[in-house]
Amino acid sequence: MLPTIEEAMKELDAAWKLNPGPWVRHSVNVGIAARNIAEKAGLDSEKAYVIGLLHDIGRRVGIVDIPTHVYEGYRYCMIKGWEEAARICMTHSYPRMSADFDYEPETEREMGIKKYILGCVPDDYDKLIQMCDALAADYGFVILEKRFVDVTRRYGIMEDYIKGWDTIFAIKEHFDSLMGCSVYDVLPDIGRTTLLTPKPWQPPKGEQK
Ligand SMILES: [Fe+2]
Repeated sequence: MLPTIEEAMKELDAAWKLNPGPWVRHSVNVGIAARNIAEKAGLDSEKAYVIGLLHDIGRRVGIVDIPTHVYEGYRYCMIKGWEEAARICMTHSYPRMSADFDYEPETEREMGIKKYILGCVPDDYDKLIQMCDALAADYGFVILEKRFVDVTRRYGIMEDYIKGWDTIFAIKEHFDSLMGCSVYDVLPDIGRTTLLTPKPWQPPKGEQK
């Protein structure tokens, strides 16, 4: 089960009040990108829109790290009965799936995520949101290379990130061929927004990163 587009938008509004930040506008843009690409790729565009809107909903709990927002989003959507959105909350941050977990996590939360990801074969909706997460900034749509640099400037770099980038480029090729054009062709105004260089967002002082 999934919420309607209207219900998902209301969730984002409520989440904005709990934890305002660029992640909300980013989520809306992930939804729009997913809808536009799904339409042309022969997928369910309404489902794509809703799961795109909700992929980061775990951030409603505050400024948290990657595993925490993944886990909180999954938990929140499961409580609501939105299983397909819960799945995306889990898979969107791990494009390499099991290869992203070639280590033993220390926290119970991360152990739970690892178990879930190891038991999951990514479908086109998982791949779509993994890719759209890398196409949508809060200020608009951008080419993958640009988003990778933005995120790296915020969080720093590890060698494995580059393998993740390669995975996302491969997913883009997959969707380019499903669509018969480039995913960039259906992202409104990308030519302009990809050239913008706003300063990386910083959390308000005193808040947990
Ligand atoms: Fe995201």
